[in-house]
Amino acid sequence: MQYSVSFPTADVRYIFDIPFTDICGQINLEETIIITDEHVASLYEQQFAGFKRVIAIPPGEGHKNLARLGFIAEALLEAEAHRRTFILAVGGGVVTDVAGFVASTYMRGLSFAFVPTTLLGMVDAAIGGKNGVNYGLQKNLLGTIQQPEFIFYNISFLNTLPQWEWSNGFAEIIKYACLFDTALLEELEQHDLQHYINNSAALMALIQKCAGWKNKIVQEDEKETGSRKLLNFGHTAGHAIETVYELSHGQAVGLGMIIACMLSVEHSGLDSSFIQRLLQLLQRYALPFEKVVDPVQLIDVLKMDKKRNVETIDFILLSDIGQPLIQPLTLTTIHQALETFSHASHH
Ligand SMILES: NC(=O)c1ccc[n+]([C@@H]2O[C@H](COP(=O)([O-])OP(=O)(O)OC[C@H]3O[C@@H](n4cnc5c(N)ncnc54)[C@H](O)[C@@H]3O)[C@@H](O)[C@H]2O)c1
Ligand SMILES: [Zn+2]
Repeated sequence: MQYSVSFPTADVRYIFDIPFTDICGQINLEETIIITDEHVASLYEQQFAGFKRVIAIPPGEGHKNLARLGFIAEALLEAEAHRRTFILAVGGGVVTDVAGFVASTYMRGLSFAFVPTTLLGMVDAAIGGKNGVNYGLQKNLLGTIQQPEFIFYNISFLNTLPQWEWSNGFAEIIKYACLFDTALLEELEQHDLQHYINNSAALMALIQKCAGWKNKIVQEDEKETGSRKLLNFGHTAGHAIETVYELSHGQAVGLGMIIACMLSVEHSGLDSSFIQRLLQLLQRYALPFEKVVDPVQLIDVLKMDKKRNVETIDFILLSDIGQPLIQPLTLTTIHQALETFSHASHH
């Protein structure tokens, strides 16, 4: 299956469920350079035969930095990459973010495409044209918005994905359900992680639904001046939690969504029963509730949030499931909610 999605700056083809070798038939391998990470390269080496070059960076968020950009630029020069060289990024969100940035800046821009190999990549990171690298403590400080020519989905890549990486993807899936899709939330409540790991038809439908939600938002607001901010649901507190505690992104976003919902009960009329529902849902997808939050430490990190206005931080709240809103909240208000949260989590 294939379809094209029109964003303000470009059209992107979405290609589903054909073998990777078939995608190779649609591009000129001799002019295509794969950018991947060492982990994915070692698992899928045999599929990368025939390409002009394979550039593999070390895996992990710690390598999403300027030094890696330099390393890739050197490798591209060495491979004599030129304006018509095609870049195919094969990997998780780190790879697509870095490769998208390199491709959109090397010689002022090469054509590129993405093959996401993590669930999080398939439902989130590969979609929407944002790419970039971290600088110092600032996540994604340096980057561009540039759409890939196509995004190729093949869920058989997920066969090798460790379970906690599945859960990271499900945190984003639960996010879309809370933000936009009551029916999806109910579907997720009827199943669990193992159901989707074992049922590729259900998984494919789920990925397409979530990709659809992200596409819709990016079509409306590619440059994130308005509704695209909604996708930060759970991420404002989540990023702070991730900075302070050794938790996976999915666990941190899970906690961040709980905090956002507690703020929503106070400030936007969300029914308080939803918090318990969300806690149970997170557990079904191996995103347990962790008793870790120290309000003072989190506030300190939130103060450095780059999206902060002078007095307030924009939080994404819900007035109901599927009814998100952007609400500026003062640090005092947030501090109170975090206090309540850490008390609740200790009982
Ligand atoms: N551009 C965006 O809009 C956007 C949106 C969300 C997240 N992101 C970024 O995405 C990144 C997170 O992405 P991620 O969770 O995919 O992380 P990741 O790229 O670090 O991948 C996670 C791990 O899985 C491994 N891996 C990848 N594919 C595999 C496979 N098929 N089998 C086995 N192992 C595999 C990787 O080597 C890595 O160790 C973050 O840097 C985040 O900022 C970007
Ligand atoms: Zn996220």
